[in-house]
This record gives sequence, C-alpha cells and structure tokens, in this order.
Amino acid sequence: MSAGDFDFAERRVLISAGPTFEDIDPVRFIGNRSSGKMGFAIAQAAARRGARVMLIAGPVHLPTPDDVQRIDVRSAAQMHAAVLAQLPADIYIGAAAVADYTPREVAPIKMKKRPGQETLVLDLVRTPDILAELAAHAQRPPLVVGFAAETDRVAEYARGKLIAKRIDLIAANRVGIAGCGFESDDNALEVFWHDGERSLGPAPKAQLADALLDLVREQWCLRAGR
Ligand code: C5P
Repeated sequence: MSAGDFDFAERRVLISAGPTFEDIDPVRFIGNRSSGKMGFAIAQAAARRGARVMLIAGPVHLPTPDDVQRIDVRSAAQMHAAVLAQLPADIYIGAAAVADYTPREVAPIKMKKRPGQETLVLDLVRTPDILAELAAHAQRPPLVVGFAAETDRVAEYARGKLIAKRIDLIAANRVGIAGCGFESDDNALEVFWHDGERSLGPAPKAQLADALLDLVREQWCLRAGR
C-alpha cells in the first residue's frame, strides 16, 4: 500500500514534536535546536492517510497541518502531562527533542550577574522520560515509536534505546551533518525494530514521514496478525 491510501483510517495517532524549553528565570531558558519539522511532517502524513492525529507541540514556528488537532506546550513537564492526558491511543510517535534536565527551581525574577562572580552553576534535575513511561504504561499504545538523534555510533545507541525504553520502533538520525537533521527540510533515518532495520532517505522530511509510516503500518499489521 502506498501513501495516499486511507491505510491509517480510524487510528488514533499521538505525536510529540519540537523542542522543550526549560525556564531558568522569566527571560532565560534551556532549549535545543529541534525545529519540529519531522514530527509535524509525520502528523500531516498520518492525517492525510486517515488517522485521527493529536499533535503535542513544543515551542515551534510551524503552522498546524490540515485535519490535525494540536496542543502547545513549553516544558518537558507540560509535554509529559499533555501526552499522558491523551491516552488511550493506537500509536505514539515521540519525535520531540525533550530536555533531559530542567532547573530544579525557576527564579521568580531575572537573575543578575554579580561583580566578581565568574562562574555560575545551575542546579538541574532529570525530566520524566515520556517515551519510556508510555511504553510501560497500563494504557500503553499498541505501537510505540521513538526517535534518537545521535552524533556517532548511531546503530548501537539506537538499538540500546529500543531495548531500554521497551519500544517497538526507533528512527535514528545522525545529527551534526550539514543539510540534514535539526532545522533542515531534509533528513535521513536509520529505522530499527527488534528483528530488522531499514535506511530511509536522504529525502525531504515529508517523503520520509510517509516512508516511516509505511514501516509503522507493517509493524502494526504484524502485531495484529493481519
Ligand atoms: O534518550 P534519548 O533522549 O536520546 O531518547 C530519545 C527519544 O526519547 C525520543 O523519542 C524522545 O522524544 C524521547 N524522550 C522522552 N522524554 C525524555 C527524553 C526523551 O520522551 N525526557
């Protein structure tokens, strides 16, 4: 079956996309370079293929794709709450670049530099791992898909995450290559599942989104015994 068919009709697809911003004080935050383009492209492709799509979006500058419902969040904690509040779902695709650490406390007023203070240590605490938590949840979506942005040893780290987070499929991209990955319109993915793998692209993110959904559908059908 090819993209354009209604092969996701009636599937409830929950997608997280974009970065998270972890506030330090009222004017500063810790963020990352995720544009949200890959997650938004997947949301658009899934909706076109008939899915009922709920997109949980971090702070991005992207229009909402047609026929997609969207909830905007800022921090990892907000994304965590928003994703869990949308269960149950048939498929979860965690494409967001969620911060791993967040300031223990948000300063209520702007932090000032002090004369003579040459260094500043921020006290950070771990954020909840939304993907791993969903994969272990009582209402676990039957198919859980993660992303991994790696600069090196892509296959090894991606396969490690597939197992550690108990997910079904992981799409890894090598970051740090000009023209691919974060902020770019093109990307290349190495997709791993428990007994297989496939390289997708390099291609525009819209095309990759459909190719990834083809793999998601294959896994869905295998699990459903169809
Ligand atoms: O462990 P790492 O952050 O590389 O894993 C990436 C995958 O885990 C992505 O799918 C991302 O959305 C998800 N993740 C998450 N919550 C976190 C950190 C990562 O859902 N706190």
